[in-house]
Amino acid sequence: MAKILVTGGNGFIGSHTVVELLSQGYEVVIADNLCNSKPYVQERIAKISGKKPVFYQIDVCDAEALQQLKEKEGRIDGIIHFAAHLFVDESVANPLKYYRNNLDGLITLLEVFGGEKDIKMVFSSSCTVYGNPETLPISEQESIKKAVSPYGNTKKVSEEILYDFAVSHNNFNVISLRYFNPIGAHGSGLIGEDPIGHQTHLVPIISEVAAGKRAALKVFGNDYQTKDGTCVRDYIHVVDLAHAHVKALDYLLNDKNNDAFEVYNAGSGTGYTVLEIVAAFEKASGIKINYEVAPRRPGDAEAVFADISAIGNRLGWQPAESLDNMLLSTYNWEKNLTK
Ligand code: UFG
Repeated sequence: MAKILVTGGNGFIGSHTVVELLSQGYEVVIADNLCNSKPYVQERIAKISGKKPVFYQIDVCDAEALQQLKEKEGRIDGIIHFAAHLFVDESVANPLKYYRNNLDGLITLLEVFGGEKDIKMVFSSSCTVYGNPETLPISEQESIKKAVSPYGNTKKVSEEILYDFAVSHNNFNVISLRYFNPIGAHGSGLIGEDPIGHQTHLVPIISEVAAGKRAALKVFGNDYQTKDGTCVRDYIHVVDLAHAHVKALDYLLNDKNNDAFEVYNAGSGTGYTVLEIVAAFEKASGIKINYEVAPRRPGDAEAVFADISAIGNRLGWQPAESLDNMLLSTYNWEKNLTK
């Protein structure tokens, strides 16, 4: 079975993807510097999967450490590259940290592994590359805008680097998955989103309010041109997203791609306003969520949701999890964290 290097495999989406890869029989090697995840995740992955992936605590910007990993592991058939900084607000405050880490990490990975005879990569990108889209739902043909944050710009530039590299290297094939809003947690309750530092995402924050950890949700703006004035997003269950990575990898390993660089949206295809999410959470959990309307958050797009026909047609991937399950699994995970 193919051996896959998963950078950032200890993180939120990375750990769920590792579980899926192991369940499909892939051999997994994780490279993660633990800058935004905790060591307990390794044991949890092993508990869910009954298999322990090989783990290297290394930084993907460290060429020497990656080289040593390569010598020790021998053949690597594919890479799923998650390792990157991801806080939008931090990237605005400290752009060089983001450019240094996110671009250097990708370039180093390509320098060390890009010369292999036949190498496949799935890259972790974001719908942030579309900015405030002109057409909804957003298809991959939507024009790419100037990024609103340095974080978003690292995703846009990374895609350009990957495209250029794929054009110049016949041995290299890559899929960039543009995620919409990943939420939820593994059904076992053993892994979920557990960032080091502050939580900024809507559904984990609602879960913190429900768990009594936070007094109220601040709804950022209610004067947008949407059905109730709050922003529209496309929420995707992290387990569905993990499946999308494995589908993308299978597709590349079976040489089904037409182009050396392909991009696909990974969302649910449905948009919900912030207040619809609050109402759905209340209905599913039976818990009233206190909220107050606050000013708009700088950089927020009004409405973003995906056209997912391309990923369905080409990769045969469809999201399977319901909104209720996304919300309740996030809440169950939050309760486990609070414990
Ligand atoms: N929101 C609130 N209150 C909060 C948090 C969020 O009202 O306390 C609203 C936001 O304004 C937005 C929606 O809930 O309308 C979703 O916000 P999130 O922070 O959960 O997610 P974003 O859409 O901002 O984030 C997504 C991805 C990021 C990516 C970002 C950039 O999850 O990884 O888009 O466009 F960086």
